[in-house]
Amino acid sequence: MDYAHILERIHRDIQPLLGQGKVADYIPELGKVRGDRFGMALVFADGRSHCVGDAAVPFSIQSISKLFACTLAFQLLGEDLWQRVGREPSGNAFNSLVQLEYEQGLPRNPFINAGALVVTDVLCSRFVQAETALVQFMRRLSGNPAIDYDTRVAQSESEHAERNRAMAYFMKSFGRLEMPVDKVIEAYCRQCAITMSCQDLARAALFLAHGGVVPWSGERILGASPAKRLSALMLTCGTYDAAGDFVYRVGLPAKSGVGGGIVAVLPHRWAVCVWSPGLDHSGNSLAGVQALEWLTTLSGHSIF
Ligand code: DON
Repeated sequence: MDYAHILERIHRDIQPLLGQGKVADYIPELGKVRGDRFGMALVFADGRSHCVGDAAVPFSIQSISKLFACTLAFQLLGEDLWQRVGREPSGNAFNSLVQLEYEQGLPRNPFINAGALVVTDVLCSRFVQAETALVQFMRRLSGNPAIDYDTRVAQSESEHAERNRAMAYFMKSFGRLEMPVDKVIEAYCRQCAITMSCQDLARAALFLAHGGVVPWSGERILGASPAKRLSALMLTCGTYDAAGDFVYRVGLPAKSGVGGGIVAVLPHRWAVCVWSPGLDHSGNSLAGVQALEWLTTLSGHSIF
């Protein structure tokens, strides 16, 4: 399969879509990024990789952090994690409050904001600084020791985190959070503000395509079965309330973020990350989803 050729073709054909969609600006610092950027990186377990465009440019990973925070919490709690957060698609926007009321503060899944706050609560109760633990984890997974969070983005989000605070207090009122709300929110804002490139993120997700083991270091992150299950969750819940449409078009387990990144894996083969900040109405990268759709169509490789 000539992936180099496929990525070049995608890079060429995607040009008319760049600049379309809306760059997230509800976190003001994110709104400063140019909407017409585009990068894509595809990596294999043996170290081979193909990159186009801005694949080496760091961007705000935002909700893609939810995948890795959940991995850490799953490592710590195993199946007990699912006592704290569900495994069903929400069918609602990622920052919706409505479901929480009639489901007694138990979030539907770890990839919407409410569920991610519970996951961060788990990490806050286990680590002195949850965000530092996550940054270190991302460095190990990607092999890039320079990864960190952007303090300006974290500060900007913290100053505009009314909805997430409301959600956290609401869940606290149902006894769903163990740690103080302020501590959980600060750690959450910092984890969302981690900056990584497409190359970093594709490498970091590779353990999911490789039976739970980081291919180049041999570090086991999860057992083969938990890794498979996390990928299943990505498939059903990883792209917000558009997960059904995403799976129809792309056919890969994936996790997106409002920074415009989407990371996806093809089990036993490769991991890919695409970045373009213009978002569609669900909050997924408009050009990113299209690029991934073309990737699986042109290669004939998806999970189906
Ligand atoms: O909490 C927020 O709204 C952002 N830090 C992340 C949102 C995002 O990427 C989509 N969430 N699932």
